[in-house]
Amino acid sequence: MPRPITKAVIPAAGMGTRFLPATKAMPKEMLPVVDMPAIQYVVEEAVAAGLHDVLMITGRNKTALENHFDKVGELEQALLAKGDAEKLEKVRRSTDLADVHYVRQGDPLGLGHAVLRARMHVGDEPFAVLLGDDIIDSRDVLLARMLEVQAQRNTTVIALLEVDPSVAHQYGIATVEPTDDPDLVRITSLVEKPAPGTAPSNLAVIGRYVLRPEIFDILEATPPGKGGEIQLTDALQALATGPEWAGGVYGVVFRGRRYDTGDRLDYLKAIVQLASDRDDLGPDFRAWLKPFAAGLSDTVPADGMLTEP
Ligand code: G1P
Repeated sequence: MPRPITKAVIPAAGMGTRFLPATKAMPKEMLPVVDMPAIQYVVEEAVAAGLHDVLMITGRNKTALENHFDKVGELEQALLAKGDAEKLEKVRRSTDLADVHYVRQGDPLGLGHAVLRARMHVGDEPFAVLLGDDIIDSRDVLLARMLEVQAQRNTTVIALLEVDPSVAHQYGIATVEPTDDPDLVRITSLVEKPAPGTAPSNLAVIGRYVLRPEIFDILEATPPGKGGEIQLTDALQALATGPEWAGGVYGVVFRGRRYDTGDRLDYLKAIVQLASDRDDLGPDFRAWLKPFAAGLSDTVPADGMLTEP
């Protein structure tokens, strides 16, 4: 039996320019999704799948991330003194959640380069990579299934989602063939962000990967690709079409709920969807949202202000 995977790598070095000015002095991973920073959803997901050793690949301006997962004694004392057990539990949760480590990326040379920075920490064992822009609903299973496939086949596993062809150019896109498992496909090729209208399929790579340590050697040899960056997709393409001993690349086709917090519109949608489903906020939020949405017209009012119904 192979040893269970315990390490998760979370690249978090991006500058978050799409969210300026909010991200001028604050990492985009700290943007709240309802009342929890986006990054904590991702760490929660890793831990729920048994990955307690988390390595974040960070950059300049990311100290708020480290502070979030650190202990804040004076805040705990204040909440203890007030007897506010509920908030105390929330504050302690991010500290106790996982064993979080940090390494800086240095030069921003792309996702493949960020993953390569995990080499020393990961060593010679399989590991998971979780991208912070993608939040997977905790009620739906993805990472656990990917880990199961990795254990069964000792292979590389990526997550795929069927997307509308009009947005395929925003993703890594896979060409696949079926396996005996309905949710599992074998990858025959991968292309990073194909030009609009040229995508070979509508199966998009979403931000969850279970990788074997061989990926590091391949990344070392991967030349800059799309956008002049070292692309993880290109290294996976080399693996998918590489020698048989490398085990190929498999894709788990995810049919659950995924929220994209990477751009402003999708971020807003994620907050509305997640808040609507919450036990505490959902009932009141939905009661307000329904008539609000029903009263919306197709155009923004001339003064740019929307009034409550
Ligand atoms: C990255 C990957 C891309 C993948 C996407 C998923 O792109 O390079 O292959 O489809 O994440 O979110 P990014 O969105 O970081 O530009």
